[in-house]
Amino acid sequence: MTVSRRSFLATVGAGSAGILALPLIEWRGYEALHAQGTASRRADRLLAAQPGMTRIDSNENPNGPGEHVFAAIRNHLGESNRYPVRSEDDLIKVIADKHGVKPENVILGCGSGELLRSAVHGFTAKDRGLLVPEPTFEAPANFATFLGVPVVGKKVDASLHADLDALIDAARDSRPGLVYLCNPNNPTATVHGHADVVSFIDRVNSRSPQSTILVDEAYHEYVDDTSYATVIPVAIANPRVVVTRTFSKVFGMAGLRVGYAIGQPETLAKMSPWLLGSNVSQLSLIAAAATVNDAKHIELEQKRNRETRALTVRFFREAGYKVPDVQANFMMVDIHRDVKAFKAECIKHKVAIGRQFTALPTHARVSIGTSAEMKKALAVFKTTLA
Ligand SMILES: Cc1ncc(COP(=O)(O)O)c(C=O)c1O
Repeated sequence: MTVSRRSFLATVGAGSAGILALPLIEWRGYEALHAQGTASRRADRLLAAQPGMTRIDSNENPNGPGEHVFAAIRNHLGESNRYPVRSEDDLIKVIADKHGVKPENVILGCGSGELLRSAVHGFTAKDRGLLVPEPTFEAPANFATFLGVPVVGKKVDASLHADLDALIDAARDSRPGLVYLCNPNNPTATVHGHADVVSFIDRVNSRSPQSTILVDEAYHEYVDDTSYATVIPVAIANPRVVVTRTFSKVFGMAGLRVGYAIGQPETLAKMSPWLLGSNVSQLSLIAAAATVNDAKHIELEQKRNRETRALTVRFFREAGYKVPDVQANFMMVDIHRDVKAFKAECIKHKVAIGRQFTALPTHARVSIGTSAEMKKALAVFKTTLA
């Protein structure tokens, strides 16, 4: 329920703390919802979830989780009466082993979204803001704005890569508490090579020694560019670096809500207080542990994505649109028209694409669906763009 300014003031006028409390909380809730962009985001997702809709809007894996996930959930459903303490340790151990780090270098999140939020809480303040490329995944900036933390954005360059030099200058000038680098970047699907990211981190460290750099590797498994590599080893060596990963993308578990962060224990300790205890469900923990090393499933999903992505890139290029180098399970294309209107038109044909990003209002973000879904979507794009 929303509360108008007038009814809020009338309630204040009533002078009763009891009467005041409820609308105040509701008004805050309303503000919060809008400050974080969650209201429009939810509306967008509900639209995409309509029956019969081809959902290429949220960078999900259209094929779902691997068979180990189904088996794990079926076999462990009966343990749902217990709080998941042991399973948390089990998953942390499997993740740590996979990356060659210690369990104390890993914390879990209810999706990596919770970890991004905890990083904003833990590393920023009203006088130590957040620095981000623009556009990028908006959750950290939305949350910082909600907290009253200043956000500095630096627009991507002409090739849709984060402008690393501009970010370094901004770090020197604004001394942010947190620098968020999404690599590959959502929504542009562009990637920076390992050497560039390491040099970026070094230069931010020297220009603004108190800033923590969070590298979000949500789409790590979809990168083909051989110059790219994870910066997890850097996060283990450098107290000013954290890496986040998620089970929501290549693992096909967005609905199960599991993510993790890797860094030095003292660095992670700044984030942990902001996480809910037992933030990942028992079944999700067991499912994630069952799939994290399922190389066969990961390879299959990479292959499927690569093939369908190539088909989609070809379509746009043959139609005369410029597609930047795509290194994820989505792409961004300048369609030379307002994306909101294009999206609305596609919805009429039961195809839901990504939301409009303010910094690039004519660039459509298209997630890669199954090949059947993409054939349908491309036919709709063909008529809609004609
Ligand atoms: C770059 C990036 N990071 C984090 C997230 C959050 O994902 P989750 O909370 O499902 O792990 C997303 C979701 O799309 C994303 O694109």
